[in-house]
Amino acid sequence: MKQFFVTATGTGVGKTVVTARFIRELSAAGKTVNAIKPVITGFTWHALQYSDTGRLLSALDLKPEFENVKALSPWRFEEPLSPDMAASREDRAVDFDELIEFCRDTMANGSDVGLIEGVGGVMVPMDKTHTVADWITTLDIPCIVVVGSYLGTLSHTLTTVEAMRARGLEIATLVVSESEDSPVPLEETVETIRRFLPDIDLRSLPRGKYSPDQPELLVDLAT
Ligand SMILES: Nc1ncnc2c1ncn2[C@@H]1O[C@H](COP(=O)(O)OP(=O)(O)O)[C@@H](O)[C@H]1O
Ligand SMILES: [Mg+2]
Repeated sequence: MKQFFVTATGTGVGKTVVTARFIRELSAAGKTVNAIKPVITGFTWHALQYSDTGRLLSALDLKPEFENVKALSPWRFEEPLSPDMAASREDRAVDFDELIEFCRDTMANGSDVGLIEGVGGVMVPMDKTHTVADWITTLDIPCIVVVGSYLGTLSHTLTTVEAMRARGLEIATLVVSESEDSPVPLEETVETIRRFLPDIDLRSLPRGKYSPDQPELLVDLAT
């Protein structure tokens, strides 16, 4: 099984869009795929369909039912904060060892591809001592890094890649997902990032709804 961890420069950049798209491309290519979003904050049941969990369930063609939600996202918190803060508002915590065990167990279900959507950006605290980067380091799987094209993304992107490289994290690809307010054409952002990160596989995802006739973005990673 091939596994990927989907992370980003920050929240709201496009991790769920990219993960959902990869799921749809894999299914269209006849591959079985398992995807999880183990920790979700800002989660409420009445807005399930708009949540990351709901959007991934839809891409996986699974019903938005309690059992499916639980299986995809066991750690759900209501406050739209970092996991550590959102959990503490409910007198709870994300147990790091349990999180790792959950990811390993779920990924071992025999699918062709396993995807884990992280939370926020790569340095977000998961608990009192661990960050998302520690989560990825422990799982030791390659990453899909999603970045935006908003003003400020260049520094966020280069900083994220430096932090990941310093920890020896593997970047399978970096996807520039077009932000709502992009100051320059998408390709200009991509070319600038390419100049500073010539060794990184770089892809771009223009803004828009998924449709099956769009060019494939990620499916080649699974072959
Ligand atoms: N390439 C894109 N095309 C269309 N909408 C996008 C794109 N990238 C991000 N968005 C939108 O931006 C918002 C944040 O994206 P999302 O995937 O939820 O980010 P993240 O998972 O990193 O928090 C969502 O409303 C999403 O639909
Ligand atoms: Mg998301």
